[in-house]
Order: sequence, then structure tokens, then C-alpha cells
Amino acid sequence: MNLESLTLYESGIEAITRHGAPSVAAAAVVSPEPKVQGDTFEVYRLRTPDDFHVHLRQGQSLAAYTQDVAAGFARALVMPNTLPPVATAEGLEQYRTQIDAGLGVHTPGFLPLMSFKLAPRHDAAAVASLAAAGATAGKLYPAGVTTNSEDGVQSIESIFPALDAMQEHGIVLCIHGEAPDAFCLERETAFLSKLETIVARFPRLRVVLEHLSTADAVRAVRDLPSRVAATITVHHLLLTLDDLIGGELRPHHFCKPVVKTPADRAMLREAVLNGEPKFFFGSDSAPHTREHKECDCGCAGLYTAPVALPLLAEFFEQHVGPGTAVGTGTGAGGGHAVGGGNGHSSDHGNGNGHGSGEGAAVEFGSGGQVRRPEWIEAMEAFVSRYGAQFYQLPLNSGHVRLERQPWTVPAEYHGVVPFCAGEELQFRVIREDERS
Ligand code: NCD
Ligand code: ZN
Repeated sequence: MNLESLTLYESGIEAITRHGAPSVAAAAVVSPEPKVQGDTFEVYRLRTPDDFHVHLRQGQSLAAYTQDVAAGFARALVMPNTLPPVATAEGLEQYRTQIDAGLGVHTPGFLPLMSFKLAPRHDAAAVASLAAAGATAGKLYPAGVTTNSEDGVQSIESIFPALDAMQEHGIVLCIHGEAPDAFCLERETAFLSKLETIVARFPRLRVVLEHLSTADAVRAVRDLPSRVAATITVHHLLLTLDDLIGGELRPHHFCKPVVKTPADRAMLREAVLNGEPKFFFGSDSAPHTREHKECDCGCAGLYTAPVALPLLAEFFEQHVGPGTAVGTGTGAGGGHAVGGGNGHSSDHGNGNGHGSGEGAAVEFGSGGQVRRPEWIEAMEAFVSRYGAQFYQLPLNSGHVRLERQPWTVPAEYHGVVPFCAGEELQFRVIREDERS
């Protein structure tokens, strides 16, 4: 990288004046190069995040999807709803090998955390062999609840032997917590009694309720023991049902569980902004090609891997002010004069609320100690700490750089329309880690 000046403050905030195109030979870049070179911009450093819920698919597109995730994340929990599903030790090992093979020579270190799709046939021996193969989690999909779940679980009692064995082996139970027969907006709430049944019956089982979408689910997870946690996606933090069907139909905002009411979203935001360790990031990035989204029976799922971290940075910056009480830190954020508070509106997806992003905080280049802003602390806890702690994994040792460099999200990645396609985002994310 050709730098004229680089100041690294102890806080991890840098200001850089760059001339000429940067070299990215040793770094993966979530977003494309900025349009304007040679300007001064802010850089924040963040412990490299983990994504505890991602779909990498299979076949030809697996490598591209994997690289998009690895551009921002050191580890990801890979969902098993491929066709056929990941359900045996052999299948899990094969899938891991395919994922590893999809990491290009320029991809930084990336560790896929493997899961398997739970079925009644998972007896103690089957679970033991999955544990030996390194399974991190078993995923419960109620039958018919989402993409490729026709072969899902019909009754939770049928997998009790598997849950018993998972508890013994320390394998986490991940749940797509929707009751498929309920009205679509009530499916998550309707599932919660089953969650409570499982938690009561298996007192040492660690459980993650995936992609929360309702206030009811936030309350339920809060009320359960500390071995019960939840992932929250960036799209459930940003969207409501209005962004899907409130105006024209927006198929690229359609996912399971469907985005809900402003009150539900407010509760999800509260759980995250409170810094509650039970709630951590899982993107549920779920690519489907444009043809499979823009058609008569469009698939559920948002492709968020390329935009999740830039969007989370905007979200935390906007919502964690110097005076905000965040569980991860206290006190006023001296030096939190970043960016003038513009960026995306809270009503993301309506196509408004974007700031100019031009030269917002040149003062960071003028030297002096600058305190690490609270929003970076809060974001780091959500994306880089709480999930790893729950999964009993060491924190990642590397870092990503969040550069305030506006860029426009491409219309497509590998034939898939990403979340926020065509919109301007304020941060680029670059991994600094060494390649493995
Ligand atoms: C996911 C997919 O496409 O695999 N879709 C989605 O809407 N989230 C499956 C899932 O996690 O439900
Ligand atoms: Zn998913």
C-alpha cells in the first residue's frame, strides 16, 4: 500500500492519506475499490468477526460464496441445508473439504464451523461420529419451514435421542424456530413453547435460536438460562414488513423468518444495543440467483455477505452515541466525532437517508490521541466476541479495517442480487489477517 502518512493511535483509529490505488494482495476486500483515490479518510480496527449462521451452498457457486464470507469473517457456522443435506460424518467432512478447496490463494485464513441437519435417525452412535468429525452444531429445521426443509423434523420428540447425545458431546443445538403450520407472522412465537420444552428437558444442552425476528423471541431467550442464546441478522435489524410489502413488492427483502413489525425490530435493536451477550451476529446470508428470487414462487433468503459488516458499522455508529448506555462500556466518548452522524436512515431499504460520505472527519489526520468510539466497542462485542464466547472458541487474533470510503453495492454478485444493491454504503471492510 502506498501511503503518504499513516497515524495509528493506540485506540486503533487511524487516519490515512493515500495516493494511488491500494494494493490488496494480502487482504480480502468486502467492497470494491472506492471511486475517489487520494483523499483522507478514517479507519477503525476491529477484531476479525465471526458469522454464526451462513449458507455457502454447493457446486459451482460454493467457492464464490465462501470467498465473499471469508473477505470479512475469520470463521462462519455453515448451515447444512444443501441437497442432499449434511447429515453424516462423511458428508460433513466432504463438505468441509469442498469449502476449503473454494478458498482462493488470495483468501485470508477462514475456518468453516460445520453443522449437520438433525433427523430422527441420528442415534447416539451417529452423533458420536459427527462429533468425531468435528461438528460444531446440529441444526433443527421443522419440516417445511424454509428452503430445503421438506425432510425436516416432524416432531421434536423424534430427535430427543440425538439431543441427548449432542448434550453429551458438547454439540450446540441450532434451531430454525418457526412452527410451519402457524400463520406466517406468528410462526416464531408459536415455536417458543417447543424451545422451552427442549431447554427444560436437556439441562446441559447449549441452544441457539437462529435469526430472531420478534420481540416475543427476544423476551423468551432473555428469560431462559445462559446456555440459551440467539443470532440476529443485519436485515432483521434494518427492515420491517413495510420494506417487503409496504410499497411495491421487494423480493430481495424476502426471507424466513419474514421481517416483522417496527415494534419487533425495536426489540431486536434494543437487545443488540444493550450489549447483551446472549445476542450475537449470524448473517443468515442465503444466496439465491436473481431468477430464483424474481419469479412466481420466489425463494426466501437475502444475500448479505458482501454488505453485512459495512451495514453493521453504519447501524452501530448511528445508534450508539457518546451518551448511549451500552453494556460493553461506560462514559462519554471523547473523540467520537466521527462522520457527523449521517449514513443510512433507520428505515433502510426505502432508498433514502444516505449521507454524502465526503471527507467527513479529516481531523483524524491531524494527530493526537483519539479514544476508541463506543460504537466500535459495541459492534466488536456483537460480531467478534459474544458468539465466540458462547461457542467456547478463542477470540480471533486478527483484525479488519473499517475504512470510511463510500462505495456503491454492485447490482449482482455471481448472478445473485445482494442486499442493498445499487445503494451507497459508507464503510469498506478489509481483513488485515495473514493468509493461512
Ligand atoms: C435460508 C436458505 O435460503 O437456505 N433462507 C432464508 O430465508 N433464511 C434458509 C433459512 O435459514 O431459513
Ligand atoms: Zn439460514
